Amino acid sequence: MSKITVIGAGNVGATCAETIARRDLATEVVLLDIKPNLSEGKALDIWQTSALAGFHHQIKGFTNDYSATADSDVIVITSGVPRKPGMSREDLIGVNAGIVKSVTEQAMKASPNAIVIIVSNPLDVMTYVAFKTAQKVAGSTKNKVFGMAGTLDTARYKAFLAEEIGVTPQDIQALLLGGHGDTMVPLPRYTTVGGVPVTDLVAKEKLEAIIERTKKGGGELTNLLGTSAWYAPGTSAAYMVEAIIRDQKRLVPVCAYLDGEYGYKDMYLGVPVILGKNGVEKIIELNLNADEKALLDASAQAVKKTLGVLDTMNVL
Ligand code: NAI
Ligand code: 2OP
Repeated sequence: MSKITVIGAGNVGATCAETIARRDLATEVVLLDIKPNLSEGKALDIWQTSALAGFHHQIKGFTNDYSATADSDVIVITSGVPRKPGMSREDLIGVNAGIVKSVTEQAMKASPNAIVIIVSNPLDVMTYVAFKTAQKVAGSTKNKVFGMAGTLDTARYKAFLAEEIGVTPQDIQALLLGGHGDTMVPLPRYTTVGGVPVTDLVAKEKLEAIIERTKKGGGELTNLLGTSAWYAPGTSAAYMVEAIIRDQKRLVPVCAYLDGEYGYKDMYLGVPVILGKNGVEKIIELNLNADEKALLDASAQAVKKTLGVLDTMNVL
């Protein structure tokens, strides 16, 4: 018996909710949006695939009715505006900070014990807003509020590598650190293919090109689609929900609250964690070399700059 709520029934939220429903991750799945009838319609449409797709539990949609989300075990927050071509994720802070704060407040009042996964951009700073809000409203602890980015960014990295090598993405193990922005840090030293170091399989220049493409992977799709991506982002959030609901103890990069780890304090950043029924159960501290640490520092600086913008907004 478990209950999962997805807030925001747009592109990412609906894809996430559909994946959760199809994988029968919960006995109750709730989709909520502020736009009248959107969640009701999408949830009904998804539910009507159940006989064909072979899942059992109904998904229900609601317009801004947080009583329907009460006592959720996991809440995924995707509400907010996406970027358009030419915009950075950071450009979204003005609109999304207020949305994430108000949604978190209402959701945590209804489900004070929930684990919360943030998807809205700019991710690292929106996750900070959600944590500070959930802490105030429900006394949430840092292990229970975190963001989705690393699972998506590594999935993109794996897809590019799989295509280059001619191997299934399933056999690629990879890690990526830092903020969810163009300064993210894919780590070739921690990338293997069926146990073989990626550097034995892909030439240096090619690997560098793949890393660059990964860092700008969100922008590539925004240019193609005219809005940001949703299939891989929605599936990535559902993948994290599954790790929690099934207590899988997956070692994956997650946007986690740092309290001294990697030398950073009171901020969110992508780092490897163990993800299980208690949320972020452990942060893994890698022994980075000087080059890797310098890249991570640059990424952390970029996140701190956006946190500085948040400071001027008086949202918290
Ligand atoms: P979308 O525009 O398709 O959907 C957003 C939904 O949020 C809309 O249906 C809107 O009505 C709803 N919404 C707005 N304010 C709300 C409120 N106060 N309460 C409830 N619902 C509200 O956008 P999309 O493509 O689904 O993206 C959602 C967010 O996720 C964006 O901020 C985007 O930048 C971010 N994103 C993050 C990724 C990541 O890796 N962390 C990847 C892809 C997108
Ligand atoms: C993405 O990476 C824009 O964060 C969004 O697709």
